[in-house]
Amino acid sequence: MKDVREEYHADGLTEATLHDDPLEQARCWVDEAIEAELPLPNAITLATVSANGQPSSRVVLLKGIENQGFTFFTHYDSRKGEEIAANPKVSFTMFWQPFDRQMIVIGEAQKVDQEESDSYFASRPYASQVSAAISPQSRPASREWLEAEVSRLEQEFPSAPVPRPEQWGGYRIIPTEIQFWHGRPSRLHDRFRYVKQGDGCWQRERLAP
Ligand SMILES: Cc1cc2nc3c(=O)[nH]c(=O)nc-3n(C[C@H](O)[C@H](O)[C@H](O)COP(=O)(O)O)c2cc1C
Repeated sequence: MKDVREEYHADGLTEATLHDDPLEQARCWVDEAIEAELPLPNAITLATVSANGQPSSRVVLLKGIENQGFTFFTHYDSRKGEEIAANPKVSFTMFWQPFDRQMIVIGEAQKVDQEESDSYFASRPYASQVSAAISPQSRPASREWLEAEVSRLEQEFPSAPVPRPEQWGGYRIIPTEIQFWHGRPSRLHDRFRYVKQGDGCWQRERLAP
């Protein structure tokens, strides 16, 4: 690994090309990754912190940037859900390798309202609805038990819609800080950090790479 070195050639970021609103900037970067058909353009690595201060992270998929935040869906009684319940402070990172771009968000997660979770759950493919409904996410379970539960639910609900389990739903991460990183030649990368001020406005500054 010590010999793995990547040279970055991107044009980089300037004050003039960045949006004043970092959520708008985030939307642009995700949209460009989707348009370029990058693999998993909406994947985020989400970090949560346990009640005793132990961080943990995992990949989830972003499903929207709206209402001042970033939305994803999961099981509320999963490890991440339990950690968020104890401490809503979270952070996530997105990395789009072909664009030499990284985005880091720091903020607080809050549950979306039930109608929003219902609506997104109903839009998922039938098999995904079934898997989500039977999964005691983050708990030990054998493959045999999981497959038997899938069969049981498929008999109970042979087609969509499967009812959304109460413990499955969305979170919206309301950011307090968003950082945009752009790889540049010779490791002189561009970094801009937006920090939310008490009056709700965003302050932007360039950081050393
Ligand atoms: C590409 C990818 C996408 C994923 N998307 C989600 C997702 O949107 N929601 C989710 O709950 N888990 C998703 N997972 C699974 C999570 O990484 C994780 O295993 C699961 O949420 C349980 O995490 P926890 O035990 O830390 O709470 C995804 C995994 C990968 C690799």
